[in-house]
Amino acid sequence: MSHHQRYRRNPDVIPEWGHDAGLVLRDCRQWRVFSVRPALIGLLSHLDRPHTAEDLHGLWDESPGPGPVAALLEKLADAGIVRRCPPDDEDEPDDGWSPYELAVHRQAGTGGFTGRDLGASPPARFHHSEATTTIPLPGADGTDSRPLATVLAERRSTRRYAAEPVPLTTLAACLERAARVRGRLPPLAYQQTQRPTPSGGARHSLEIHVLARDVDGLASGAYHYDPFGHGLAKLAPWEESLTALQQRFIVTPAVMEAPPPVSLYLTSCAERTAWKYSRLVLTLIYRDTGCLMQTLCLTATDLGLAACPVGAIDASLSAPFLAPYRDRLIHVGGLALGLPDRSSPPAAVTPLQGTTEKVAPPRVFQK
Ligand SMILES: Cc1cc2nc3c(=O)[nH]c(=O)nc-3n(C[C@H](O)[C@H](O)[C@H](O)COP(=O)(O)O)c2cc1C
Repeated sequence: MSHHQRYRRNPDVIPEWGHDAGLVLRDCRQWRVFSVRPALIGLLSHLDRPHTAEDLHGLWDESPGPGPVAALLEKLADAGIVRRCPPDDEDEPDDGWSPYELAVHRQAGTGGFTGRDLGASPPARFHHSEATTTIPLPGADGTDSRPLATVLAERRSTRRYAAEPVPLTTLAACLERAARVRGRLPPLAYQQTQRPTPSGGARHSLEIHVLARDVDGLASGAYHYDPFGHGLAKLAPWEESLTALQQRFIVTPAVMEAPPPVSLYLTSCAERTAWKYSRLVLTLIYRDTGCLMQTLCLTATDLGLAACPVGAIDASLSAPFLAPYRDRLIHVGGLALGLPDRSSPPAAVTPLQGTTEKVAPPRVFQK
């Protein structure tokens, strides 16, 4: 080991509280846990930049001397808690994953059924007892539909909408075809439902809240779609706070010139999925969200609506009409809907040039 050897903290390693083990360090990539003395955190806190053992002896209040610090760093490097820096000044490329993202992904790989006695399931139906009124929606019977292949070929994300309002019948048909509950799956006590989208464990934790800014036949405001009764429960009239909410989570992230007539604010009642699964819950919810978004996009396309999925997440659930539910719901994404603006179609697609097109080499994720 040279005196010039510099060391750096492994960015994938973070402190955590162990079970009965006090402080531990977790390598979120290798999924290994190290039991450590708290004093070591003091040393590691200096290692977000490369340092030699001698530097660290000067920086670390609890240093036992330059020799022991050098030996300790070598031990930590062998364990993967710190890294030996290359002699040139070049930093190793960062592959972009934060330790938290690595941890969520790793946990998903070790998760599954909770295995415990499940007990009573949380209800599959989310009820807004504070709703001022519930508007029954018309069914989609008699509304035209086109071949799936045509709809798939036509689907695009569209960020500009016609100035006309969306007819309530079209919005109702979209919600019915994409999200209405068709029935229950056995055993009934599990509160599992069958719907147009698949859902991990048939838990269907997702709820659709509708920001109806301009819908023909519906007062502007915030609503909850009840997929059991096929109705819209009114939660709030349209006001400035809904304009601002739509701006933050639809208009700005999708770089829209004007707000869409309708925005869907998608949430998850996570306890439904957590009742059955452990550690896999968040990733299942995200994947359910993808299924619902795509089903909504295809259904909207079939009905002649323009749609744009939006991935921005309102992590603090700032929707004012959901203030009583901040500990029960999480926001998972959104969707803009409107009649298409025929004068500005989405960007043209350049066809692939046969099989000779150059494909970028795959990104290496493992360091
Ligand atoms: C999960 C997800 C999140 C998305 N988030 C955004 C977004 O925040 N802003 C946006 O303008 N488009 C968003 N989109 C739309 C994509 O940009 C769009 O699908 C992509 O550009 C391909 O275009 P196409 O859908 O017309 O085929 C999202 C799509 C998905 C599936």
